[in-house]
Amino acid sequence: MDFTDQRLSYEQGQLDQRSVPDSPFTLFKTWMDEALSKKVKEPYAMSLATCGADNKPSVRIVLLREVTETGIIFYTNYDSAKGQDIEENPNAEALFFWNELERQVRISGHIAKIDADKSADYFQKRPHDSQLGAWVSQPQSGEVANREVMEDKFAQLKVDYPEDTTVPTPEFWGGYEITIETIEFWQGRANRVHDRVVYSQDDHEQWTTKRLLP
Ligand SMILES: Cc1cc2nc3c(=O)[nH]c(=O)nc-3n(C[C@H](O)[C@H](O)[C@H](O)COP(=O)(O)O)c2cc1C
Repeated sequence: MDFTDQRLSYEQGQLDQRSVPDSPFTLFKTWMDEALSKKVKEPYAMSLATCGADNKPSVRIVLLREVTETGIIFYTNYDSAKGQDIEENPNAEALFFWNELERQVRISGHIAKIDADKSADYFQKRPHDSQLGAWVSQPQSGEVANREVMEDKFAQLKVDYPEDTTVPTPEFWGGYEITIETIEFWQGRANRVHDRVVYSQDDHEQWTTKRLLP
């Protein structure tokens, strides 16, 4: 495959470092609202990069579930490959790409498990069958012989926990929060002279911004 003659010009918007809001959370909210109103499918899907002690980066999509005052939260299996990486190295990066807006947002920071009670609250709000799915996929990222093994496990769980019963919150499942240390907003522009503004926190926890070469 050769894509060298495939090129788009990005001309939908611009980002001026001199007029961005003081808080990156304000800008993130504006951009997320615009992604939602532009009907970007799953704008809260983000690529999550982790790197364990083997120094080999891994990346996969997870769903942003909450933006707090300090960072972003997603949910997963703590025994997964990503969970293992995070155990070994608490630095992570998350990336949103909103094609329809010609934008990417790149978030980097420290990652840590959220409170178990908060995870349980969210788990109990999920649809019944998704709750069972979390139990089926244990340990997530482990090898399974075939699909039948998973379907049998799911069918047994449906018997053990009928629709009107409470599915226990697994100890191996819950949220992680990436506490934002830097966040970069990228707006595609014509001729590959894109706009990039990165926010980082100074020693007094004030946000400062820089424009970066594209
Ligand atoms: C659109 C989409 C959304 C996903 N959301 C999640 C999620 O929120 N949590 C999760 O653990 N995995 C999610 N996955 C699956 C992950 O990409 C990945 O396959 C899984 O978490 C195992 O990753 P790991 O082996 O690197 O730990 C999603 C995949 C896609 C394509």
